[in-house]
Amino acid sequence: MKINDQIGAAQLTVELGDRSYPIWIGSGLIARIGRAFQLQNIPTGSPILVITDDKVGPKYLHHVVAALSDAGYQVSTHQVPSGEKSKSLRVFEDCITAALEAGCDRKSTVVALGGGVVGDLAGFVAAAYMRGVRFVQVPTTILAHDSSVGGKVAVNHPLAKNIIGAFHQPEMVLYDTSTLQSLPDRDVRSGLAEMIKHGLIWDQAFVAWCEEHAEQLLDKDEEALTYGLLQGCAIKAAVVSQDERENDLRAILNLGHTIGHALEAVAGYGELLHGEAIAIGMIGSARLAEQMGIAAEVAGYTERLMSSFGLPTAIPAQYDTEQIIAAMMHDKKFKEGRTLFVLPTAIGRVEIRRDVPIDRVRDIIEQLKGARTCQ
Ligand SMILES: NC(=O)c1ccc[n+]([C@@H]2O[C@H](COP(=O)([O-])OP(=O)(O)OC[C@H]3O[C@@H](n4cnc5c(N)ncnc54)[C@H](O)[C@@H]3O)[C@@H](O)[C@H]2O)c1
Ligand SMILES: [Zn+2]
Repeated sequence: MKINDQIGAAQLTVELGDRSYPIWIGSGLIARIGRAFQLQNIPTGSPILVITDDKVGPKYLHHVVAALSDAGYQVSTHQVPSGEKSKSLRVFEDCITAALEAGCDRKSTVVALGGGVVGDLAGFVAAAYMRGVRFVQVPTTILAHDSSVGGKVAVNHPLAKNIIGAFHQPEMVLYDTSTLQSLPDRDVRSGLAEMIKHGLIWDQAFVAWCEEHAEQLLDKDEEALTYGLLQGCAIKAAVVSQDERENDLRAILNLGHTIGHALEAVAGYGELLHGEAIAIGMIGSARLAEQMGIAAEVAGYTERLMSSFGLPTAIPAQYDTEQIIAAMMHDKKFKEGRTLFVLPTAIGRVEIRRDVPIDRVRDIIEQLKGARTCQ
């Protein structure tokens, strides 16, 4: 692992030629955000807009503003309501209004201070404002180790998740792990689902490590979290560097997401957290893989793993199966009459399939309903 002495943090790089960017991970990094901006040659002449939410803002916004102001930047802020419902066109428009009122120009930078919701929303603002301005991610949730890397930015439509969006890579990701200490337990569990996903698609040894360190991770032990986040970000960065625009390989990051995104849409955004939905989705994918003869003995293991992290393992019985199927048809992964499934072939290995019969999916959804759910 590389250490950047100027920032005093572990460094990973998303390799994208002349658009490559660093991910810096460490404790107390927000205090060094001004230095990080200077290292990335972010100009001081144009306003910076920091977008955050109303849970993260009161805790960390003043630190970000103070550190950037000390480094000579002119900073404006905009706070949105916390939660998935803020990934909407209405809140997006409010952010654009804030950028205009702040006098942001083409050389301005939009900073996302928060979890995946703020990251996806602020990233889409940065992608669209004046046809694209600079963007910086300051993630404050575990889940955001995934969402802050890779440049997918989006808001939701009531019928389909992340359906209005763009690819817009950040200039840098500045991950201050000390912010995670204030994260609520339910969001800790949700974020760990994406961390485990990175192991399940890429690295069996990392899955085993997660399993062995479940207690420390759930307790927000900083050393364990930092190691897990570094591994998760490294896997994500490796995948994105090889296939930025999801022509093929990048689709593996969608393990659990075909069912998961449909569940989020049917539940009503924010009812089922993203990590909770994909935990159920990953169990569904493992069961599909077993039923199709692609893998053996992955479903029970996946279910036990999710359970040991306090994640739900069943679809709430009141969700309508046909509505879930209909939501899958609206997903970006649905094309030419078929939807994409990422199915495990073993723990740490997956395969992308477009030949999963819809009747099998319906059976799996029915099976996943009615059993125990934990929140
Ligand atoms: N762009 C991508 O590639 C990608 C990848 C994975 C997930 N996502 C998206 O990420 C979103 C979920 O992200 P999330 O789970 O981070 O949700 P989130 O941003 O809503 O954060 C979870 C909750 O924790 C609060 N919070 C955040 N940081 C905190 C802190 N340090 N202390 C206390 N409270 C804090 C937030 O206000 C919110 O209530 C979903 O919309 C999902 O679709 C995107
Ligand atoms: Zn996800």
